[in-house]
Amino acid sequence: MIPLTRPVVGKEEAAAVADVLASGWLTQGPRVEEFERRIAEYCQARHAVACSSCTTALHMALLTLGVGPGDEVIVPALTFIATANAVVHAGATPVLADVDPRTYNLDPAAAEAAITPRTRAIIAVHQIGLPADLDAFADISRRHAVPIVEDAACALGSRYRGRPVGGHAPLVCLSFHPRKVITTGEGGMVLTGDDEFARRLRLLRQHGMSVPDTQRHATRRLIVERYLCIGYNYRMSDLHAAVGIAQLARLDQIVARRRALAAAYDAAFADEPCLQTPYVPDFARPNYQSYALQLTAQASFGRDALLAKLRARGIAAKPGIMTIHREPAFGGRCAGALRHSEHASDSSLLLPLFPDMAPAQQQEVVATVRDAVRVLRDGTRGRKDSRPGRQRPLPATVSSPPAKEPIA
Ligand SMILES: Cc1ncc(COP(=O)(O)O)c(C=O)c1O
Repeated sequence: MIPLTRPVVGKEEAAAVADVLASGWLTQGPRVEEFERRIAEYCQARHAVACSSCTTALHMALLTLGVGPGDEVIVPALTFIATANAVVHAGATPVLADVDPRTYNLDPAAAEAAITPRTRAIIAVHQIGLPADLDAFADISRRHAVPIVEDAACALGSRYRGRPVGGHAPLVCLSFHPRKVITTGEGGMVLTGDDEFARRLRLLRQHGMSVPDTQRHATRRLIVERYLCIGYNYRMSDLHAAVGIAQLARLDQIVARRRALAAAYDAAFADEPCLQTPYVPDFARPNYQSYALQLTAQASFGRDALLAKLRARGIAAKPGIMTIHREPAFGGRCAGALRHSEHASDSSLLLPLFPDMAPAQQQEVVATVRDAVRVLRDGTRGRKDSRPGRQRPLPATVSSPPAKEPIA
């Protein structure tokens, strides 16, 4: 199988973990502090607070804003379920709004229309790494006095109007799950420009403890901590952070490679009338955490039929982003008003894309997709012709991957 994705990890990560093991300090400590400092610097954010996942980052971000029972939080209907789960974890109600059919991101007009007197926040998701229209959300935020939380789980390394994602909203949440552009195994972070938010986040992630362990252990003085609020154990460990520091050093190279591979896919599918390549607004420079194709109205066959053919031929493509409201956990129903989300979810597919993808692997994905589309199209027209399609050469943008070190 050509996999959908594969994290880039090598001897630097292994050495960093070995150093932490040898140090004797395994939980949240100096490596976490260093990782936070480096991510804050990269994203041009004032504070970075590491935690155990993006889901816990979102939960804490909402608590920091005072979201609780009786409140509503607007989220896109088309997103990973964790975005909405975090709202429920905070005791509030997620209100689903539709996405822009071109970008798959929350449509600012739909979000604004969903505002009620109970709305306490809007979560703008940078879906599969494509920045949402942050200026439009900032304008809504100002006019309605409703704060924006960015779910940037997939968007580290993306840019909005030239600036890194992470430095804009009051609260931005990142993920370091292995499906993201860099990973710590599991992990998350909240970025914020607000000193008081940062203080609350640091309390929430560590049981509400008034003094972090690092501070208590750094002195011979007796410091007895107090527990200032009901907090959580949402800590990141130093083992995870050490991997993250090594990964961050690779980020620019990884993103450049992902962009080159995406450009090659764009060129290879540009003339296929059944397929729509990703739309990128002028303000956005995505990291291509995923590469999504959408079936056009000219495709007389279903997305799942195409996926089945690809999987049978060794390509681990998968369905596009899920819709929240059609999952059993959220009612499991279609909702007429969320038609762009439903259509995007049903008609899109994600193709393999990973930094060490060899040109021959990408060539194989392209040839297999084009051939499968041709067979399905011709089949639905009643023909039986299944000769292999002409294999188009890949454009010159794809060079060999940086063969620096082994990929685990
Ligand atoms: C948009 C979005 N939000 C939140 C999450 C949750 O991230 P984590 O697995 O770090 O909790 C994901 C993970 O895939 C995601 O894609």
